[in-house]
Amino acid sequence: MGATSYGSSDRPPRGDYARAGQVKADYTCPQDYAAYTAADHDTYRRLYARQSALLPGLACDEFIAALPSLGQSSQIPRFDDINERLHKATGWEVVAVPGLIPEVPFFTLLANRKFPVTDWIRTPAEFDYIVEPDVFHDLFGHVPLLFNPVFADHMQAYGAGGLKAHRLGACEQLSRLYWYTIEFGLMRQASGPNQGLRAYGAGILSSSGELVHAVTSPEPQRIGLDLLRTMRTRYKIDSYQQTYFVIDSFQQLFDMTAPDFTPLYAQLKSLPELAADALLPGDRLIQR
Ligand code: PHE
Ligand code: FE
Repeated sequence: MGATSYGSSDRPPRGDYARAGQVKADYTCPQDYAAYTAADHDTYRRLYARQSALLPGLACDEFIAALPSLGQSSQIPRFDDINERLHKATGWEVVAVPGLIPEVPFFTLLANRKFPVTDWIRTPAEFDYIVEPDVFHDLFGHVPLLFNPVFADHMQAYGAGGLKAHRLGACEQLSRLYWYTIEFGLMRQASGPNQGLRAYGAGILSSSGELVHAVTSPEPQRIGLDLLRTMRTRYKIDSYQQTYFVIDSFQQLFDMTAPDFTPLYAQLKSLPELAADALLPGDRLIQR
């Protein structure tokens, strides 16, 4: 849900990909700001208010620190306004897309420090839950951490790694890592007054229900991130996760994913996939 085609969906992606010839070959388009209605802006405002109130004690410090950089919360922001600040902070920019886009264009944008953001917003009936990414998920969930220099570098490296995975036929494996880190990752904050388990994944941070569930519920299992283990693990796109993988810091995530994955992909070919709720003897269980 940055805008990758996640899971195997039978439905065509939602969004207007023809849009008066404005969608370019790289799938980017102008943000259709004039199309937003007063109700759309109100949906954004209410989503933002509910979600930001939930963050203390549940979201990681880096996310809470960066959130104000998104700007106004009273209406859907203009991507150009965000870009003035974002480009100065980390050299990233947000680009509008009509919805989910294919893997290669998605990876190419990330590798060039461009983050695709869906420009339409969910209907009021979808206030609590939407399967595919909309502008609220993409902006509120993903964009704050692009202001964090280490996370920003990680996202670019992921994009470049995605292009390599595509050449090696390993996109499904790599997308599981994306799912369990960038979308649904948890972090163990080690020091300071805010010590404890926190969320940094965009799919958690943009969902009121899953944010509380992921960090506080006794139900899901939480396992220290292990690349091979994570890339073997299937995931559910339409329910809360049964397993979350936990990192200690963005620097750890960056360092862990820096080595060439080619040998890992080769190893994965001979290892069986794991169910979303599997638990292995070697798993490092993390207690809340
Ligand atoms: N280091 C990985 C490779 O060589 C690329 C990657 C970077 C993957 C960051 C995920 C995150 O394939
Ligand atoms: Fe996403």
